[in-house]
Amino acid sequence: MPLSTQAVVERKPLGAGQPTPATPGDGVQLRLVPCPALHLPIQLTSFVGRALELTAVIELLDSARLLTLTGPGGCGKTRLAFRAAEELAGSYADGVWCVELAGLEDAALLPQTVAHAFGAREQPGRSAVDAVAEHLQLKRMLLVLDNCEHLVAASARLAITLLRACPHLRILATSREALRIDGEQIFLVPPLALRPLPTHLRTAATERRSAGAGNWQTISESEAVELFVARASARVPTFRLTAENAPAVAQICQHLDGLPLAIELAAARINVLPVEQLATRLDHDLRLLVGGSRTTLRRHQTI
Ligand SMILES: Nc1ncnc2c1ncn2[C@@H]1O[C@H](COP(=O)(O)OP(=O)(O)O)[C@@H](O)[C@H]1O
Ligand SMILES: [Mg+2]
Repeated sequence: MPLSTQAVVERKPLGAGQPTPATPGDGVQLRLVPCPALHLPIQLTSFVGRALELTAVIELLDSARLLTLTGPGGCGKTRLAFRAAEELAGSYADGVWCVELAGLEDAALLPQTVAHAFGAREQPGRSAVDAVAEHLQLKRMLLVLDNCEHLVAASARLAITLLRACPHLRILATSREALRIDGEQIFLVPPLALRPLPTHLRTAATERRSAGAGNWQTISESEAVELFVARASARVPTFRLTAENAPAVAQICQHLDGLPLAIELAAARINVLPVEQLATRLDHDLRLLVGGSRTTLRRHQTI
């Protein structure tokens, strides 16, 4: 999703001879500047919560050149990485790029896959790794290597080579397992919060949902419930969190330990089972989750 321009508000002291700005406020000028490319997959669903984790990831990437988001499958590593990368796009002159590795089975093809993503050509006597390293050598870029878990050793080798050859490159990897190379910073992605966040971290949407919620207010404020409600109401547009169904929704989210993938799969069953029944049946059989969303399942078949 390359963004070509971005409106930037600049505040400058106006000296003698400078034109009066046409924009509101003294000394404020609006200008369009080129915005670095954002080469990330476009998400089809809304993003929920993660204020604390986003801050942590952004801060860690300030000092670490390789940050790996780890955690069990479906805990939200990929989604958090993409969101952090979006937030950071403006900090990298050559933008943010993602190479998606979930579908790549042969570790030997990793360098070619990355080279292909950048349009870096292999030539006789120059390997794919060298081609990528040369291509990225002077770039100020954040590279997201997504879903490295099944190619950990190959991803580690590639990361070492690129980080050594490209001094301004940073890598944000997602993997169930750490890459375990020097300089790697690891961030364990926690499940979605089951308790409300402190007031200063709440979003406007959270505040709206909790307004007038009475004694189930605390349930409705948690990120896990927010995700369930977002996905359930996408499936059944009339679905709302009410005083009656809130305890069952909270029970589902708690039972699924706040795992985003499992919450999405449960919410996808809402058109066949009322939440109260879903909560009771999930207590006995987690296999109920299978058969919900086709997109979600395809990406997590192995979990
Ligand atoms: N913060 C979030 N907001 C909205 N959806 C999320 C969030 N975190 C995860 N998800 C959704 O949950 C599912 C699993 O998340 P994903 O990032 O793919 O997990 P992982 O990479 O750890 O296997 C995906 O469908 C993703 O869109
Ligand atoms: Mg992932």
